[in-house]
Formats: sequence, structure tokens, C-alpha cells
Amino acid sequence: MTTRDSADHYGTVTRLLHWAMAVLLLWQIGGMVLKQILGRVPLMAFWVGTHASIGLLLLVLLLIRASWAFRQRRARPPYQRGLIGALAKAGHVALYTLMLVVPALAVLRAFGNGKPVQFFGMRLREATGEEIAWMVAPANMLHGTLAWGLAALILGHVAMALVHRFWWRDGMMARMIGRTV
Ligand code: HEM
Ligand code: HEM
Repeated sequence: MTTRDSADHYGTVTRLLHWAMAVLLLWQIGGMVLKQILGRVPLMAFWVGTHASIGLLLLVLLLIRASWAFRQRRARPPYQRGLIGALAKAGHVALYTLMLVVPALAVLRAFGNGKPVQFFGMRLREATGEEIAWMVAPANMLHGTLAWGLAALILGHVAMALVHRFWWRDGMMARMIGRTV
């Protein structure tokens, strides 16, 4: 197993970040989908109660992942030539952008709405009682809409991964799942 990425495979650090964030995003978005369907039943109260903490964790992981991707940029498997490669690259850039903007706007709102800010029960900031309009407005306007956009993009990404694996059978999936040596 190699830690770093190579021209054939993503290494263990990239894979760990990719799959850990995939699971957390499933929890995060899946929880909101179930909330829409089931309403505020007790299970959902717990699930939705973890939303801000998991979201902040996702933001921290994204910052680590983006720095790692930047350091590995010359060592990574290359994109295919032509339109398919260009679309794959644009898709990955869009995923990174939304993985940053969606939680960042919500964190800005959390620090601007005057209520206490908690991270897994740890108090990060006491209540101020004062709402700061410019910190709250962007998330009120965009957090939900952009999060659903991220969910749609993830579905497209997973669909393309399955097309590579079962239709084109070109070994693309093995870059993120198969052996790393
Ligand atoms: C990548 C991370 C995140 C994702 C994918 C995500 C996703 C979502 C989704 C899908 C909704 C439902 C929108 C609707 O009801 O139409 C939502 C709502 C909400 N999220 Fe997040 N979220 C993330 C991070 C955060 C963070 C870090 C916080 C707080 C610090 C937060 C706080 C909220 C709140 C308060 C709502 C309800 C109000 C609203 O729709 O804006 N979220 N989120
Ligand atoms: C079942 C779920 C998933 C599967 C099967 C899957 C599969 C893959 C595969 C095969 C690659 C390598 C593609 C290439 O080399 O061009 C990849 C890369 C990537 N995936 Fe996923 N993926 C999944 C979930 C996700 C989720 C939830 C996200 C987050 C939004 C995501 C974001 C990315 C990104 C940004 C890359 C580029 C490499 C990187 O910087 O990490 N994937 N994925």
C-alpha cells in the first residue's frame, strides 16, 4: 500500500479521505432526505441534531483533502484526453467547490445568528443574542439549494463511476478501490 498517489492509483491518504467523506456526506444528505419524508420523528431529532457537527467535520476534512490534492497534483492518475476527461475534471472541481461553499456558508451563519456554537457537545462560542445580517443571509438563501445541487452532482459522479466499471470496463474504478501497488 502506498501513502502517496501515483499515475495508476490513488494512494491510501486520498482513498481514506474520499471514502470517509463519502460516508459522512451520505449521513448528512441522507438525514435531510429522511427528514423531508418522515418529518420530525424522534430518530430524526437525533440524526438532524448531528447535522452541524458532522458538517463542520466535513469542512475540516475538505480543507485537509484539498491541501493533500494540491500537493499530489503532479502524481495523480491523469484525466482522459478529450471531452470525457474535461467533463470529469470539471465535475471534480465542482464537487470540491460545493464541498467547501455548502458547509462554509452554514458555519458563517452559525457564528452570526447569536446562538451558542457547539461541536459534538464542545462549546466553541457562547450565545451573543445578536444576529449579524450579512453572516446569516447567504446561508439562508443558498445553503439548502446548493446542498441539493451537491447531492445531484454526487449522484452523477457515482453513476459515471458505475458506467466506467460495468459498461466501459476500463479500470477507472480500480484507481479508487483496487490494489495500490
Ligand atoms: C457538507 C456539509 C453539509 C451538507 C451536505 C448539508 C446539507 C444540508 C441539506 C441537504 C439541508 C436541507 C435543506 C432543505 O431543507 O431544503 C440542510 C439544511 C440545514 N443545514 Fe446543512 N449541510 C452541511 C453542513 C452544515 C453545517 C456545517 C451546518 C451548521 C453549522 C448546517 C446547518 C444547517 C441548517 C441550520 C439547515 C436548515 C436550514 C437551511 O435549510 O438552511 N449544515 N443542510
Ligand atoms: C459510491 C460512491 C462513490 C464511488 C463509487 C466513487 C468513485 C470514484 C472513483 C472511481 C474515482 C476516481 C476517478 C478518476 O480517477 O477520475 C473518484 C474520484 C473522486 N471522487 Fe468519488 N466516488 C464515490 C463517492 C464520492 C462522493 C460522495 C464524493 C464527494 C462529493 C466524491 C468525490 C470525488 C472526487 C472529488 C474525486 C477526485 C479525486 C479526489 O480528489 O478525491 N466521490 N470517485
